[in-house]
Amino acid sequence: MIVKEPKFKKITVIGSGYVGTTTAALLAHAGFHVVALDIDKHKVEMILNGKSPFYEIGLDTLISSAIAKKTLSATTNYEEAIADSDIIFSCVGTPDNPDGSSNLSYVFSAAESATPFFKKGAVFVQKSTVPVGTGRKVIPLLPKNVAYVSNPEFLREGTAVFDTLLFDRIVAGGNDNKSVEKVLDIYRQLESRNKQIAQIVPEIGNVFSDIKSHGGQYISTTLESAELIKVTANAFLALKISFANSIAKLCDETDADVVGVMDGIGTDTRIGRAFLNAGRGYGGGCFPKDVSGLISSALEHGVDLPIMTAATEINDSMAGYIVQKAEKFLGSFRQKNVAVLGLSFKAGTSDARKSPAVKIANLLAKEDASVICYDPEASEEAHPNLNRGVVIVEKLDEAIKDADVIFVATDWPEFKDPSIYRSLKKCKMIVDCMNCLDKDAFKSGVAYIGVGRNGD
Ligand code: UGA
Repeated sequence: MIVKEPKFKKITVIGSGYVGTTTAALLAHAGFHVVALDIDKHKVEMILNGKSPFYEIGLDTLISSAIAKKTLSATTNYEEAIADSDIIFSCVGTPDNPDGSSNLSYVFSAAESATPFFKKGAVFVQKSTVPVGTGRKVIPLLPKNVAYVSNPEFLREGTAVFDTLLFDRIVAGGNDNKSVEKVLDIYRQLESRNKQIAQIVPEIGNVFSDIKSHGGQYISTTLESAELIKVTANAFLALKISFANSIAKLCDETDADVVGVMDGIGTDTRIGRAFLNAGRGYGGGCFPKDVSGLISSALEHGVDLPIMTAATEINDSMAGYIVQKAEKFLGSFRQKNVAVLGLSFKAGTSDARKSPAVKIANLLAKEDASVICYDPEASEEAHPNLNRGVVIVEKLDEAIKDADVIFVATDWPEFKDPSIYRSLKKCKMIVDCMNCLDKDAFKSGVAYIGVGRNGD
């Protein structure tokens, strides 16, 4: 692929969360000089010391090598970061308000703080997930000679580097076609170097060498469509998960196994198998808030989205549903030793925001179980959200050795090995909250309970 290299070199990335840090680290290896800008001194110091502010495969290596090459730097100072930048990515958080709507205060304050320092002709790129119509409200805050482009992000936590290097699509929308093309050119350059960059990170390089051909799509569209593509994609994936969980409840009442059912429908290319894994539901910093944000922004436009309200209700029910199902089998959790394996909202991340695994641990504690949790990465982040009395241990073995019941609440690879459960003396039941275990490995002695799996 012949790629016309963009003429500019300096890029600033505002916000050092998952999206901003991954974007900054990778662009710093793709031929650009990148400045990571964050108001949090601690995050900036970590990046300057060659470390990612959170756990994500490959990021430490990418950051430390880019800092050493001097293609990446970090600062808390807006003027220093923005003044000679050609492209400014805004990757700040958009948490939810108590009523479920999106809190856009960081989005507006990032634009306002940068405004005095833009150079003429700079492009302000919105990567934060925002409700449709937000761009139109940000544009008046910017100088007239600065263009605005919406360029939503689709990376997943846990595979952030991989997803950014091997993307399905890049979406960019705005009024000024030249600026939209400038943004797309950045990714064309990144894609042309993706194999080379992947070699820096061994875990990712190995996967890359198995991939024969790949071509990400470049989608140039209107500002509003770009904004809506992002939230609609997340909402649809959430819908798929809640659909699978509804069918799992039906499977529990019949002789069907939800894994087989979803495998069966997933072969239909119109449906696809992805995001049809039933279990304790979705969590994290994206799906829950993006779904509630979509419902709320649609209402502002007079549009009701009951389909998404239903998806949220089903999702919210899953942790309680699993605990009740296990309780029915066991009689009572009172004074039982229960191990909860996994606290993060999914494997591969230290992120425990809105984690259904944390919800399960808390529900078990409410049932008077003596709860011991273990997670390889998320203990620190989960700790503030766990009820008093819930204990976190540092080793898997410590959590399970005296357990009467084990809940596998996050699908970390180390929990999937059946041999870790074989020598346990007291354990009567394994509750597979993510249907990630081989249920046939538990036939003798220990009861296996999945979500929507035949014969539970
Ligand atoms: C999600 C999207 O997948 C990304 O494309 C998007 O960029 C990101 O949100 C974002 O908006 O920033 P992420 O939240 O990192 O990414 O995680 P996912 O891998 O999508 O998983 C979300 C949740 O759904 C997890 O709790 C996971 O365990 C759960 N899940 C996923 C299921 O319960 N079943 C499935 O079949 C798949």
